[in-house]
Amino acid sequence: MPSLSVTTVSPARRVRGRLRVPGDKSISHRYALIAACAEGSSRLLNYAPGADCQSTLACLRGLGIAIEANGPQAVTLAGHGFDAWRVPAAALDAGNSGTTMRMLAGLVAAQPFTTRLIGDESLSRRPMRRVIEPLTRMGATIEAADGHAPLTIHGARLHAVHHTAEVPSAQIKSAVLFAGLHAEGTTSIAEPAATRDHTERALAAFGVIVVTNGAMVSIEGGQRATAQALTVPGDFSSAAFWMVAAAALPGSRVEIEDVGLNPTRTGLVSVLRRFGARVDVQQTDVAAGEPRGTIIVEYDRTSGVDIAPDEVPGLIDELPAIAALASRGGRVSVRGAGELRVKESDRIAAIVAGFRGLGIPADERPDGFLIHGDGTPAGGIADARSDHRMAMAFAIAALAARAPSRIEGSDAVAVSYPGFFETLDGLVA
Ligand code: S3P
Repeated sequence: MPSLSVTTVSPARRVRGRLRVPGDKSISHRYALIAACAEGSSRLLNYAPGADCQSTLACLRGLGIAIEANGPQAVTLAGHGFDAWRVPAAALDAGNSGTTMRMLAGLVAAQPFTTRLIGDESLSRRPMRRVIEPLTRMGATIEAADGHAPLTIHGARLHAVHHTAEVPSAQIKSAVLFAGLHAEGTTSIAEPAATRDHTERALAAFGVIVVTNGAMVSIEGGQRATAQALTVPGDFSSAAFWMVAAAALPGSRVEIEDVGLNPTRTGLVSVLRRFGARVDVQQTDVAAGEPRGTIIVEYDRTSGVDIAPDEVPGLIDELPAIAALASRGGRVSVRGAGELRVKESDRIAAIVAGFRGLGIPADERPDGFLIHGDGTPAGGIADARSDHRMAMAFAIAALAARAPSRIEGSDAVAVSYPGFFETLDGLVA
């Protein structure tokens, strides 16, 4: 059902401040899922507070894992090993979270019982054949509605396969690796382009050996994960909105502390520099294989930026934010990003419609978009289409406008960034 929430965003001359962002969503999902396979109690700090990562915890509870939330973003999972997972009494609801559904599919495919995975309207429209196909070849039987959720997964004793993924997707890679961890033999997956490698790093942090050889990753089945105490870094994809706002609005400066700096995620840094911003990245630490540190972005000048297809996997989730770079002037051109059409919304259509609604010229391409900012936009109405990253991108674009704008469906931000609008208020004050 379309959301009726609306937030009015007023024009702002600039953004300034020092802040932290919520824990990384991708890493939180992985730590929770692997901790649930491990034996012993894992303690996760700075676990992502958004609805998506709570969906992962709810699904794991449905599989019999005892999970305690002690204090803000501190989660303890009592793992008793993968064999202790229980037949779920009801369908497991992944909500809006594609990462939950696809990665969990890889795990329950190896259980000796049947699991039904459901999701919201958006998730039920997203392609699942990309995981159904390799998991079926490994030995699971999966019923789906024409390649879409709900998924009924009849788990089985899996055997290793080599899988060649057709689209670059860390979710596919992770589903196959998680299944491979519980399969007989060595499972491998080759990707058409490198995607985020959090699963590889997280498995290693839990004591599982994963071998990466160029574009191929492999895992030997039957290894056991060991419980860990880990702290999730801040989410670079959430930081991205403030980084873009600072790059686009004259006089801005933001300093974001304790952000994940995994190089498979930070493609936006080079984009902002090409656009004309001053960006300083200071790595302070590496924990559980994940680099983290401080990012400072200052406005300098604006120009045009072209995103090439080979850059897309390294900034796929940042493309809605990147569109907002050109809200007041300059140009953003994106190609080779057809995957945007199967995210939480058809992000190409949503970006173009929303930006036009705010008075910013935008054109759709089959595999991308062109935003050509043209002075100060009028402002207006943009529909987030129940997509968290669209709501945040429109809010940032609206800062550049002449008059207040209405962001419809703004409550979607809670999927990855509860408190987004409160932080925005602080940065424009
Ligand atoms: C994610 C991978 C990406 C990304 C998504 C999170 C992950 O999706 O867009 O937000 O955590 O593995 P794909 O794997 O479908 O590219």
